[in-house]
Amino acid sequence: MKIGVVSADVASESRVALTPDAVKKLRKLGFEVVIQSGAGQAAYYADELYQAAGADIANGSAEVITQSQIITTVNDLPAEATERLSSGQIVIGMLDPYRNTQLDIYAEKGVTAFAMELLPRTLSRAQNMDVLSSQANLAGYKAVLLAANEYSRPFPMFMTSAGTVKPAKVVILGVGVAGLQAIATAKRLGAVVEASDLRPAAKEQVESLGGKWLDVPMSEEEAQKAKATGGYAWTPSEQYIKDQAAVVDKALSNADIVITTAQIPGRQAPRLVHQATLAKMKAGSVLIDMAAGTGGNVEGSVPNETITTDNGVRIVGAANIPSMLAAQSSDLYANNLVNFITTLIAPANDDASASDASPNLPLTLALNVDMEDEIQGALAVTHDSQVRLGKR
Ligand code: NAI
Repeated sequence: MKIGVVSADVASESRVALTPDAVKKLRKLGFEVVIQSGAGQAAYYADELYQAAGADIANGSAEVITQSQIITTVNDLPAEATERLSSGQIVIGMLDPYRNTQLDIYAEKGVTAFAMELLPRTLSRAQNMDVLSSQANLAGYKAVLLAANEYSRPFPMFMTSAGTVKPAKVVILGVGVAGLQAIATAKRLGAVVEASDLRPAAKEQVESLGGKWLDVPMSEEEAQKAKATGGYAWTPSEQYIKDQAAVVDKALSNADIVITTAQIPGRQAPRLVHQATLAKMKAGSVLIDMAAGTGGNVEGSVPNETITTDNGVRIVGAANIPSMLAAQSSDLYANNLVNFITTLIAPANDDASASDASPNLPLTLALNVDMEDEIQGALAVTHDSQVRLGKR
């Protein structure tokens, strides 16, 4: 059975779905692998490395798709590649399921498409497939470095004969995987860190990393709602949004660096920083809006652009930070995919295990696509010629 890798759009994406190491693991499991020539180039994985790991190289996505039973990508497949798909094929990637405009095409073609973002993250056997966590962790780290690079002062306190350098004041809004890593990284660089999230459980995590919790008052009803959502974001009331804006306004008036990470799967990112607050910020302060790609937490942020406001505040619209760490992000993403792919395979049959070939290489690999499986069922956005998103 063959697994293919289709190149991402190099203009906006440097990651690759499978790395040479992942190819070795898949070969060991008995798969063949074909890589679109140049797919790993921007992540520093040349075609020769894939060949050395046992993969074939194909010219163009069409060749990969016509050869492969399972097609892996970083983001959604390019439109021209979908034309080549045929019934029974599997597509696996970060398909941006709620904004994906190609689901009808996948369904029409009879393809089973798995959107890795839909993983049931609290399921312990799924944790090594969690692409949101593997990528957000790296993004949180890199966001702090981007901010440090934009900022015209250092992060740590220095006592010098020419005067004392004050530590940078960093505010993190949204303390999920990326936010926690941003706190840890900013602390390591010597900054003073404050952070907030609408999940009360995040307070303890912020404090354990040495950050100060910015508390937004919450009604009893909201506290119950927050508990009931099992640790995921809940829909805040107008009063909460107003109180939060006041807390953010006060904290940001004093801040040097702000990193916003708040996202809501399938919905527009919440607006956490408004024009009135930006106007009060210091010249030279820097905001990194990690939600710029899904609507932005910061008013006026533009994906992949850095805007300087009239009062000298710089807003970085960081739409795809994991792509900036393409080598490492690809390593972790590929591991997540390999772990998921192993769930698609039926246990080796007796014939294969009894074969006189290498015991590590079952001769026949059978696909075991099963919508009753809690991981596969959650990830599948098309199957059996139907779009399944929203039907669970
Ligand atoms: P995310 O990328 O969806 O959002 C980042 C953070 O922004 C979240 O903490 C969210 O609560 C917060 N946020 C959303 N709207 C907000 C608003 N209006 N105001 C302030 N903050 C807001 O989050 P991520 O990193 O994907 O984590 C989401 C949840 O998943 C967290 O509860 C996390 O603990 C949980 N998680 C659980 C895992 C597991 O059980 N294995 C693994 C990873 C995450």
